[in-house]
Amino acid sequence: MDIMLKYIIKIFNFIEYWFQRIVIRLYYYCYYFVKFGINRVEYKQMPLFRGKLLIKNNGKCKLGNQLTFNSVFKSNPMGINKRCTVFIGKNGQLTIGDNCGFSGVSIYCDSKIHIGNYLFCGGNVSLWDTDFHPLNYIDRRDGDNSKTQCSPINIGNDVFIGANSIILKGVTIGDKAIIGAGSIVTKSIPENQVWAGNPAKFIRYNHQP
Ligand SMILES: CC(C)(COP(=O)(O)OP(=O)(O)OC[C@H]1O[C@@H](n2cnc3c(N)ncnc32)[C@H](O)[C@@H]1OP(=O)(O)O)[C@@H](O)C(=O)NCCC(=O)NCCS
Repeated sequence: MDIMLKYIIKIFNFIEYWFQRIVIRLYYYCYYFVKFGINRVEYKQMPLFRGKLLIKNNGKCKLGNQLTFNSVFKSNPMGINKRCTVFIGKNGQLTIGDNCGFSGVSIYCDSKIHIGNYLFCGGNVSLWDTDFHPLNYIDRRDGDNSKTQCSPINIGNDVFIGANSIILKGVTIGDKAIIGAGSIVTKSIPENQVWAGNPAKFIRYNHQP
């Protein structure tokens, strides 16, 4: 009797799990179908969402195939501490290639951010192509954000960015480069290299076939 009850509970949990997955995925599909339409987001295929992505597109946004945005705590065992957020300013152009994964990422694009294919973007990473505020204190007092410095970010293919890293304006990261956890990247990184630290520095080469 006990064994039967155990199996009934197992079957019930299994059905509930898959039912939830299907319903939640369907919900996100419908929600982002509308949201991407309103925000004029171009996409090849609807990304996989685990939790809600906050997105505001005032410029141009193109998304590739097979993207994942993890925004809830349990969606990544490393422990995400914020939702994925994507903001594109009126002069901004964001392009994301195929097969990229993001967990609690913060993307703020005021000029241009290009991301290639197969980006493994660790938890809570930030990609900011702008300083957000002008460096001159008079302009800041005047609230004149038109003088804010911004410069494009370019990320190649097969890049791995460690958790909690910040990629700042004007940075290019070459193909297959690796960024250590908690790095602040202020300078461009050539392909096939490992960089880490604050500010990120060369650690070693990463030559692979
Ligand atoms: C960058 C990384 C891949 C390097 O791994 P590794 O090749 O095994 O390198 P080592 O551990 O041998 O370290 C080599 C050197 O780099 C330094 N280093 C490694 N990672 C670093 C980091 N994140 N920040 C600063 N320095 C770092 C080490 O202190 C060491 O310095 P030393 O030669 O002066 O002693 C790894 O440390 C890392 O940060 N992985 C990312 C993990 C992550 O965030 N995953 C995503 C979760 S969602």
